[in-house]
Amino acid sequence: MDKKRNAANNYIEKYKNLAVKTSLQPALHFTPPLGWMNDPNGLIFFNGHYHLFYQYHPYETKWRQMYWGHAVSDDLITWRDLPIALAPSESYEDSPEGGCFSGTALEHEGMLYLFYTAVARNAAGDLVQKQCAAMSEDGLHFSKYENNPIIQTDHLGNENSHFRDPKVWKHDNTFYMLVGVSQDQVGKLALYKSENLFDWTFVNIVFEEPGGWMLECPDFYELDGQEVLTFSPVGIKGEYSTYLIGKMDYQEGVFHVESRGILDYGVDFYAPQTFLSTNGERYVIGWQNGWEWMDEWNGFGALTENNWCGAMSMPRRVSIRNKQLYSTIPGQVTALEGAQIIINDTQTNGYLKKVTEIQTPSIIELSLKSGESPITLMFKDQRTGMEDRFIIEDQLRYHSNENPLGRKTLTMPLAKKENRVKILLDLYSMEVFAEGEGTVLSVNSFFKGACEREFSFSCCEDDRIEKLVVTKLNAKRLITG
Ligand code: FRU
Repeated sequence: MDKKRNAANNYIEKYKNLAVKTSLQPALHFTPPLGWMNDPNGLIFFNGHYHLFYQYHPYETKWRQMYWGHAVSDDLITWRDLPIALAPSESYEDSPEGGCFSGTALEHEGMLYLFYTAVARNAAGDLVQKQCAAMSEDGLHFSKYENNPIIQTDHLGNENSHFRDPKVWKHDNTFYMLVGVSQDQVGKLALYKSENLFDWTFVNIVFEEPGGWMLECPDFYELDGQEVLTFSPVGIKGEYSTYLIGKMDYQEGVFHVESRGILDYGVDFYAPQTFLSTNGERYVIGWQNGWEWMDEWNGFGALTENNWCGAMSMPRRVSIRNKQLYSTIPGQVTALEGAQIIINDTQTNGYLKKVTEIQTPSIIELSLKSGESPITLMFKDQRTGMEDRFIIEDQLRYHSNENPLGRKTLTMPLAKKENRVKILLDLYSMEVFAEGEGTVLSVNSFFKGACEREFSFSCCEDDRIEKLVVTKLNAKRLITG
């Protein structure tokens, strides 16, 4: 099985210098060493490090046969690339349009287990999806379970082309697995249980989402004494990743939903998964490229020229407040704060102000007075004239004047007395955090030569901006393994 993995690792070693990884690389956001990346997979703290695995195709900057890429970190910010963890080496996963699809990780008795979906054509020529396991003692070298696949058919006994992305956890000495499945064009989450991690029995469909024909990449965890179930629906306009807060009934196999919401109001955030940190905090990471900017999974021009394509969002710390998921920029990011430009209200009053040459990465923080008048923040690429605007009224609206797919306006609800909005700006992305509500809206924004971005804001009638602070973040990403 190592042949294919070794070949891919040798290829990366040989060609990684081709990937433009300096001025054209986001400083804070994780990007692959070379080639294509999508979903985060198997996020776990194991053997002294945080491990990030990801959907990976090293040979092209397009979605192609899937491998699991691998990187480690001590702080969730600075990453070190490691050799590929899983290659599609076995007959049950070797189709060019298949491979090792998304999944999760679990530590058990000192071993690291990876659960993933193997995708290959069956005898009838259909691409079918089956659940598999791989394990490792050191968190670096993985071997596939000899009796893979561990789940061959869906809960109805059929080979299924939409049966994927296992999430595995332990509860009361039993292991549980959630798998996304499409049945009669309805997206569902199937719950299985096991005593030994290899033999699984179907419990029930715990949740289904009419309107979405497939639910991808489920995650399940305890947070602040409650239970959270997340997934990424396919077929619902906007493809927003969704969270449910409620209670899992393990006997009946039903998730009782008490409240629900959206993990990110932008369109460039997909397939989120979480880390449990060593001090018990939860961090969410999503694939930042989402869907909207891509031409049928064929990458996007601005980045494919660099010989890599794909970024992860910054990790967000999540908690529950009033039955809603509340996201914030984590302390590890604010600890990178450096030089600041501070503009207070006497300077903003009634005028359009400009701050030129915002360097990335930065955090732009707005302190607002309550009031009715809208505030517009405009980011302009000095070279191309491309503009991105955030308009803050009773909600936050994002609008871009020009983009490859004619992006529409996006909106995010704001708390009535929202008084602090923070924008985390990196080379190709903006993540807007509303502190009162705990909501986030992320967008990719392919400014060229982003250091020459111009940023201005305007505020009509009464002045609602009390203070505006632009803080440069001192970030250094380790590039090689
Ligand atoms: C989500 C997804 C998963 C699948 C993987 C394949 O982006 O479609 O459902 O496992 O990507 O790369």
